[in-house]
Amino acid sequence: MDAADRIELLRAHAARLAGSRIAELIEADPARASDFALRVGPIYATFARQRYDREALAAGFGMLEAIGAPARLRALVDGEAVNATEARPALHTALRSDLSTSPAASAAHAQAVAARDAMRAMVESLAASEVTDIVSVGIGGSDLGPRLAVDVLGPLQGGRFRVHFLSNVDGHAAQRVLAGLDPKRTAALLISKSFGTQETLLNGAILREWLGDDSRLYAITANVARAASTFAIPSERVLPMWDWVGGRYSLWSAVGLPIALAIGMDGFEALLAGAAQMDAHVLATPMAQNLAAWHALTAVWNRNALGFGTHAVLPYDERLKLLPSYLQQLVMESLGKSVRVDGSPVAADTVPTWWGGAGTDSQHSFFQALHQGTQVVPSDLIGVLALDHPYPENHRALLANLFAQAEAFATGEASDDPHRAYPGNRPSTLILLDALTPHALGALLALYEHSVYLQALVWDINPFDQFGVELGKQVATRLRPALDGQVAADDPVTREILNELRARA
Ligand code: F6P
Repeated sequence: MDAADRIELLRAHAARLAGSRIAELIEADPARASDFALRVGPIYATFARQRYDREALAAGFGMLEAIGAPARLRALVDGEAVNATEARPALHTALRSDLSTSPAASAAHAQAVAARDAMRAMVESLAASEVTDIVSVGIGGSDLGPRLAVDVLGPLQGGRFRVHFLSNVDGHAAQRVLAGLDPKRTAALLISKSFGTQETLLNGAILREWLGDDSRLYAITANVARAASTFAIPSERVLPMWDWVGGRYSLWSAVGLPIALAIGMDGFEALLAGAAQMDAHVLATPMAQNLAAWHALTAVWNRNALGFGTHAVLPYDERLKLLPSYLQQLVMESLGKSVRVDGSPVAADTVPTWWGGAGTDSQHSFFQALHQGTQVVPSDLIGVLALDHPYPENHRALLANLFAQAEAFATGEASDDPHRAYPGNRPSTLILLDALTPHALGALLALYEHSVYLQALVWDINPFDQFGVELGKQVATRLRPALDGQVAADDPVTREILNELRARA
């Protein structure tokens, strides 16, 4: 059975269920609420409000088994060249623990452990210095993960440093970040796997000049030679990256130094331990009880069997408000592909548009469309059970809103007045964390990573390359001299725009 047949099988189940509403599926199967919920460590998730039944799920899990998902998870962890187009492994799991059965993956894990020792030493030496503020310069995978983790965990852990992030090439970003900081009490981390990313090099140069002292400039990179040649950063202030870790899967490496500075090295290691717990679950658990498999299958079901074009991430926790942007890169850079690993066109639509925002704010902005718009938007609703601020009544209200929205999306409400009718039948997965600890955050992010990998297996695409982002970079490089009038732009529309720009200058 090839990819097209697998998708057709899911579509046949969707056609069989076309007349069944979520509420009816729940009513017809009294054990559904408990059987469609899973717990892994600090994470509970219920899939009871999705538009499939046991039979459709069994077909889906059968499909995952048939494509060899368990063995291919093992291949990932063992360091096989799962990034086929770049002929290299994707060993982010080796950054958190050693679950491998291969010497190469174990060696990668040993390198990660050594880098962690160097990280710890760097955190300690900075802590012993006058530095109070850290500016982390990086973009994409060299920014979004640390930025999210620091935003989630930083304030609660009362760390030694204030950590700031600078990613955008727009000079306003640098201007805003640097305003109010004292160069003598600030250290800058230049994070770039390639050390060739335009935004990071330009912002790095701004930081170097602003600091006025190179001794507080650090680099995290797989290209140590370039860090030395372009910024003269000596090797004792460089932490390693490796080509066997993808940028968007790299927050678990030394790329996570801003996290370690914000929450302490022990907190960073707890984050890794949470991810490792999820890795162990995903690797050892049959598909039908495997949380990542449920999540991935649900994504494929909603995309291909039901044809939904977007997916919303709705964290009901202010601290997780950056989760949608983080997941946009993880999911859309990984799965935004139109050709299979062998180069032939994909058999079905791949990634939908992922987007979202935190509740309850979003309820007062885009939820109208989620409840009554013509497009059904499946969602992940994410909540945190523990109260860890001084306002218990707000926490109860937040949870009530979260549970209410999940219910309202599914059941809707009839009315004689069409303007006041809610169609319901809008699928959602509810994910609850016991508490928003480093461990739980690690487990949550690893869950999404594994879900992405399993979705890629179904679609037969490579989730570890990102050639799609290169063209724009190349055109921008070609165009740069045209902005100064040194060369004419090739494209007639761009030429006209540049004429307009010059006329206004
Ligand atoms: O956006 C493309 C990309 O290559 C991402 O995949 C990566 O995370 C980001 O740029 C930054 O790259 P680097 O870490 O090499 O600066």
